[in-house]
Order: sequence, then structure tokens, then C-alpha cells
Amino acid sequence: MDADFSVGFIGCGNMAQAIIAGMRQSDFGKDQIIAINQTPEKLAELASQLCFTAASNMTELVEMSDVLVLAVKPQVAPAVLRELGKISTARGKCLLSLAAGLPVSIMLEALQADGQTEQADWPIIRSMPNTPSLVGEGVCGLYASSYAEQSQSDQAEKIMRAVGHVQWCDEESGIDAITAISGSGPAYFFYMMEFMTTKAVELGFTEEQAIELVTRTALGAARLAKQSDDTPAELRRKITSPGGTTEQAILTFTNNDLHGIIASAMQASKDRCETLASELAAQSK
Ligand SMILES: NC(=O)c1ccc[n+]([C@@H]2O[C@H](COP(=O)([O-])OP(=O)(O)OC[C@H]3O[C@@H](n4cnc5c(N)ncnc54)[C@H](OP(=O)(O)O)[C@@H]3O)[C@@H](O)[C@H]2O)c1
Repeated sequence: MDADFSVGFIGCGNMAQAIIAGMRQSDFGKDQIIAINQTPEKLAELASQLCFTAASNMTELVEMSDVLVLAVKPQVAPAVLRELGKISTARGKCLLSLAAGLPVSIMLEALQADGQTEQADWPIIRSMPNTPSLVGEGVCGLYASSYAEQSQSDQAEKIMRAVGHVQWCDEESGIDAITAISGSGPAYFFYMMEFMTTKAVELGFTEEQAIELVTRTALGAARLAKQSDDTPAELRRKITSPGGTTEQAILTFTNNDLHGIIASAMQASKDRCETLASELAAQSK
């Protein structure tokens, strides 16, 4: 059975395409996914490739959609929201934002129609997806602002579940924390895989073989960690026999404070979210 609501994407770049592909594979029909994009030619091509409906402008998109997904870059989002705020039929529609680092307060300000004194009471839900959404293995943080109703949160969750796991945050700051964990997280693992690949080549394998060895090791470790009742720490201990080979590698990590390095890296990512929010606030004035 098809989903009972329609979703309009404002912007049809990488993340929107990943979500649309996932939605098409779940129970959203062609007429329930609508999008607009800066470049219309790109939109027409994507609409036929991914099988969704292309709208010709924001007003048409709003009329056809129950939920609106803000899928443009954070820097252009305030201008897009100012345009959306002028469309009276958009008021009260749930706005699911993908824009990294863009706080609800800035979105509400941008949505405030010209001459209006009180802040707009839009039901906004913020999300923080990640790139494994492209293969249906995403992790997405969600935060519902005060104007969002439960039914709108359920709709947002249904959309994001089409590309992976969803974690709700009670506070907006939770989205910054999720950014430092799963948003930036794939890059941490890619970085580790990058250096393991380089060393595997030094140890005599071709680059192709090295990438295969490293990615399959990462995939196997992630699957085992997901399926096992053991914590990652227990799984690691189980393959670290005293006096063995793995112990030597782990000792090298601990002697170089890998734990501390990872903790500071994640803190730096979270701190950058807060700085980004201030920069976006200054830019949107
Ligand atoms: N990619 C990720 O890993 C990731 C992770 C978490 C969150 N996000 C968030 O997801 C959002 C989208 O990121 P992305 O990676 O998908 O970016 P992207 O590939 O650059 O896509 C942005 C899209 O917006 C379109 N666009 C720009 N201005 C527009 C306008 N005024 N009206 C309609 N469409 C417009 C662009 O069209 P043209 O190409 O024709 O210019 C482009 O297709 C961002 O806010 C980002 O912070 C992304």
C-alpha cells in the first residue's frame, strides 16, 4: 500500500536523490514524491531516472506536497526559506530540513513574511542524515521543534527510515552531537581505511586487492558488531590474545592515545556545528 502523504523536495542534489531512491523502494509512489531544483534540465533527467514528479516552481511544489524537505545547501537555505515564507499555502506544512548546522531559530526568522512582527509558527523538523544513505545504510538524527505535531514527526521518520536508521533527539543540540557521531562518522572510518589500504600496498598487495581486503574487513567488523550481543570493546578483547599479534597493534594505538585523538576529533566536529550556526545566523541577516 502506498504511503498516505506526499513529499516535496526543495533541491534535488545528492542527499535528496538518495532519499528519493530509498522512498521509491519503500511505499512511496511516483505522485507522492515531487521536487524542484535550480537547474530544470537536471531535474527532468532525475525525475525520469528515479521516477518521481517534477514541479515547475515552489508554489506548485507546495500545492502538491504535504511535507516539504529543505534539501539545498545551508548557505542558500535562508533565501529559499524567505521565498517559501511568502507562499501562503505553505503555512502549517511540515518542513523537514536536511541543512547541516542551520538552527530552527534562523529558519523561523527566514520564513517570517515581510512586515510580519511575530515569529512564524512553522512545524520544523531538523534532520542530520549521512552519506551511507546512498546505499540504504544511513543513520539519521531527527529533532522536532515545538510547533511540530506527532503525526508530522511520524511522517518525517517514515521518510528518513527509507534510507536507514533513525535516532530522535530531545534537544536541538542533539543534532550537533549526532553530526559529530554519524554525520561526520563515515569520514572517520574512510580515513582509517585509507591508511590501512596504503599500508596493505606497502606490504605487497595491489591497490585493488588492498581496497578489497580493507573494505571487507570493515564491513565484516561492522556486521559482527551489529549482530553480536557483545559490545565493540568485548569483541576487540576477544581477538586480542596476550602476547599475540593484535595486541601489538592495539598497544601502538594506546601508546599514541588513539582514544584521546578520536574524542578530540569528535568534539571538534561538534564545536564546528556551533560555529557554523553562528556564521549562518550572521550571513542570513
Ligand atoms: N551530502 C551529505 O552527506 C549530507 C549529509 C547531511 C546533511 N546534508 C545536507 O543536505 C543538504 C543538501 O546537500 P547535498 O549534498 O545534497 O547538496 P547538493 O548535492 O549540492 O544539492 C543541492 C541541490 O539544491 C539545488 N538548489 C540550489 N539552489 C536552489 C534553489 N534556490 N531552489 C531549488 N533548488 C536549489 C541544487 O541545484 P543545482 O545543482 O542545479 O545547482 C542542488 O541540486 C545540505 O543542506 C546539506 O547540509 C548533506
